[in-house]
Amino acid sequence: MTASGRTLAQLFSNKRIVICLGPGGVGKTTSAAAIAYAEASLSKRACVVTIDPARRLASALGLADLGNQATLVTKVGHGELWATMLDAHATFDDMVRKYATSTEQVDRILGNRLYQNLTTSLSGTQEYMAMERLYELYEDDRFDIIVVDTPPSISALDFLDAPKRLGSFLDNRIFKLLIKPPPTYLKPLSVATRALLKTISKVVGAEVVDDAIQFFESFAGIEDGFRERANEVERLLGSEETGIVVITSPRPQPMSEASGLASRLRTANRQVNAIVVNRITPDFGVPPAQTDSDVDPVIKNWLALAAQRVADLKISSDLATDGQPILFIDEILGEVSDMGGIEAIAKVVATVEMDLAGA
Ligand SMILES: Nc1ncnc2c1ncn2[C@@H]1O[C@H](COP(=O)(O)OP(=O)(O)O)[C@@H](O)[C@H]1O
Ligand SMILES: [Mg+2]
Repeated sequence: MTASGRTLAQLFSNKRIVICLGPGGVGKTTSAAAIAYAEASLSKRACVVTIDPARRLASALGLADLGNQATLVTKVGHGELWATMLDAHATFDDMVRKYATSTEQVDRILGNRLYQNLTTSLSGTQEYMAMERLYELYEDDRFDIIVVDTPPSISALDFLDAPKRLGSFLDNRIFKLLIKPPPTYLKPLSVATRALLKTISKVVGAEVVDDAIQFFESFAGIEDGFRERANEVERLLGSEETGIVVITSPRPQPMSEASGLASRLRTANRQVNAIVVNRITPDFGVPPAQTDSDVDPVIKNWLALAAQRVADLKISSDLATDGQPILFIDEILGEVSDMGGIEAIAKVVATVEMDLAGA
């Protein structure tokens, strides 16, 4: 392997958005915070945003209650590290307030029971709202760069595809039928729709259907704002302004999840800019000379760890299918779930040159 000549922090320093994707439990949240910290060390005003329901970021940053508002965590030289956690419900409410045409419409929507349910249970809401929030942060001139932590790989693609899916949801005929009262010449259709709704109400209850109709009606006029936003985010995620990093650990299960994710990204024409392999077996140096190494359990263990490190470094080259640079981060011994752990990893992100596999 050869050095790429650049650190991960340098690679992303001209990006406005960095998206961290990868399997759960590999250190994604920690790495996202560390990348933001490293960008801050390059004098950027960096904001890390997490949609991790485990609230790992909040505790790692020593912020008990990381809310939907961005909070300044610390200054790093001339740079700043900010953090925020996605509150899908609050973001949805804000969005309704922003795009609604009147205060009555705001009240109607926010007070609707179905709305209250949808914002917490509808699949995809998290991703839609993450995308909305991302755009808000992108437009917020307090920040130069936004680093986004994501949930495990299953929904990682959903996250990137959210703008497109929201668009097609809005284009859905049923949705259109429900929000736009059909013109009189389409009455038969309306009758058909009503018949359909009658059938549905037998199953789910008339109350639910009333709520649904009221819900969709109350959204009239808002969808244009939603759609416009979806288009902007779609453009942004596909542009040079956005960087994508796949994070994994060298263990077999995350490695296979990460390579599955990488190949799905490739199929979807999403360019992965860098790979991070976190929690590599650390380098303990050369064991002291020992003639009967095969009988000394300490030396045996030492050699096994050295072999494991070599294996860890090797396995990762499979991930860099498009020749992306790789950053290896050693397993940190001791307590890492605090600011000290993030700082230690940030130092690697800011100072260690990435490797080029196969070169
Ligand atoms: N390089 C590392 N060395 C040691 N422990 C780490 C390292 N990176 C992350 N961890 C620990 O691994 C656990 C999972 O990290 P987290 O960032 O929450 O992962 P994810 O967001 O991918 O689920 C945490 O306890 C974290 O402190
Ligand atoms: Mg996480």
